[in-house]
Amino acid sequence: MLRVNENYLKLPGSYLFSKIGKKVSAYAQANPGKEIIRLGIGDVTQPLAGAIIEAMHRAVDEMGSPETFRGYAPDLGYEFLRNAIVKNDYEARGCQICADEIFVSDGAKSDSANIQELFAGDCKIAVCDPVYPVYVDSNVMAGRTGTYEEQTGMWSDVIYMPCVMENQFVPEFPKETPDVIYLCLPNNPTGTTITKSQLQEWVDYANKNGALIVYDGAYEAYISREEVAHSIYECEGARTCAIELKSFSKNAGFTGVRLGYTVVPKELKFGKASLHDMWARRHGTKYNGAPYIIQRAGEAVYSDAGKKQLKEQVAYYMNNASVIYDGLKKAGYTVFGGVDAPYIWLKTPEGMSSWDFFDYLLERANVVGTPGSGFGPSGEGYFRLTAFGSFENTRAALERIQGL
Ligand code: MLT
Repeated sequence: MLRVNENYLKLPGSYLFSKIGKKVSAYAQANPGKEIIRLGIGDVTQPLAGAIIEAMHRAVDEMGSPETFRGYAPDLGYEFLRNAIVKNDYEARGCQICADEIFVSDGAKSDSANIQELFAGDCKIAVCDPVYPVYVDSNVMAGRTGTYEEQTGMWSDVIYMPCVMENQFVPEFPKETPDVIYLCLPNNPTGTTITKSQLQEWVDYANKNGALIVYDGAYEAYISREEVAHSIYECEGARTCAIELKSFSKNAGFTGVRLGYTVVPKELKFGKASLHDMWARRHGTKYNGAPYIIQRAGEAVYSDAGKKQLKEQVAYYMNNASVIYDGLKKAGYTVFGGVDAPYIWLKTPEGMSSWDFFDYLLERANVVGTPGSGFGPSGEGYFRLTAFGSFENTRAALERIQGL
């Protein structure tokens, strides 16, 4: 008889955003007249930029003609896209990354979950706390995290690096040396980030300790401050210790289109093994590439028109971030983030738990957010609002919150 992967059974509850979705649906069903504003999951609301739509139309037409039809995409992704990525995301910032170190995929979420397949079963991972739940859950599924302690909300074999108000949400080097360090910067969920020189310290630490940094740069397009790095490869020595994950979801609205890429430098060697070769092997075996039409859409992100349109889109969301940030401050909340990221992280009022505040906001203001404790134990007492709504909804949500 089949025996299941029992690691799955260790996972408590359902995926955070599935749980929120169910709670909101139940509320909506019980209260059909209520107009709910969703600022929970970080899902974009603005339509795809014109340059992207045009590129997709052209690619669709190509697929309809025998001369230009395309079948399976090349293993690592089409060169036109990988070259555009290298030129715009790396060369332009003085980072040395080659096109054959870029692996195009269907998004950063799946890559961030799959990358752990390259690590030995007893590797110790370190995560910021709070953290994007995928990093921990995917390691739970692989049996790498020990046992779950209900009372603390922690896994026995995971190293947690608290990022809280008291340390300005900057992770500190853990006492125990990890094998893998997950960093998401600018950070989801806190909306905060660290400077390039602080990031350099992490790169030095990883190189010194033989650790790997899995660097999730999904929110890079939202960086506004000069002193913040747009890529970990801006730091010296990152090619020997860091993998970078990038997404087209947040900078170009591809949450429903699906496209991302992962950079695995060739210098990343642990013992005799090259992580680049291993990831290439995995990619070739398990994946047939993002669709041609979508990769052409990705290429359009880097066209002059695309860049201009997306700059406006990012500015639109960051204006929402200011509306949320300022609106909450005015209403007396303690607020963080929202400067280099489209997330605003607030302290729940009067010591309310994160989930109690979720219910309070849903029932009293019909506004959906994300409870901080859903991202890890140090998220308890915090709450996340996303700037990815429409301006009208964002403003209305803040008016409602101010009126509570
Ligand atoms: C979030 O809300 O944290 C993100 O939208 C989740 C994701 O990008 O997968």
